[in-house]
Amino acid sequence: MIGRLNHVAIAVPDLAAAARIYAGVLGARVSAPQSLPAHGVRVVFVELPNTKIELMEPLGADSPIAAFLARNAAGGIHHVCYEVDDIIAARDRLRREGARVLGDGEPKIGAHDRPVLFLHPKDFCGTLVELEQVG
Ligand code: CO
Repeated sequence: MIGRLNHVAIAVPDLAAAARIYAGVLGARVSAPQSLPAHGVRVVFVELPNTKIELMEPLGADSPIAAFLARNAAGGIHHVCYEVDDIIAARDRLRREGARVLGDGEPKIGAHDRPVLFLHPKDFCGTLVELEQVG
């Protein structure tokens, strides 16, 4: 069901500093910052030849990554994002399999203007999983 790895997301305390590390030290191509109020984060994407790295810092007082950064002050890997062809079909299949879809189960529009859903880390090897519909 899942397809390509779309991105790996890293939560960071300082987005500008993280973007400088990727652009300067690692020599990567980094997008302009983008605020995603519906997700409570501000992000840049690092464009790699085979995938992307999403760097994200908290946006707003009740950001969903605030607790993660409280536990991981220097930042850390927050989620992985896999591509799916049909996010509603994917959600329904996962529910039949007993996996927990976070929130109300209705896809939100993600950073790439495509529908996304998040899956409970306890059902996926301790890793928060994002699904993004492509195509
Ligand atoms: Co993501």
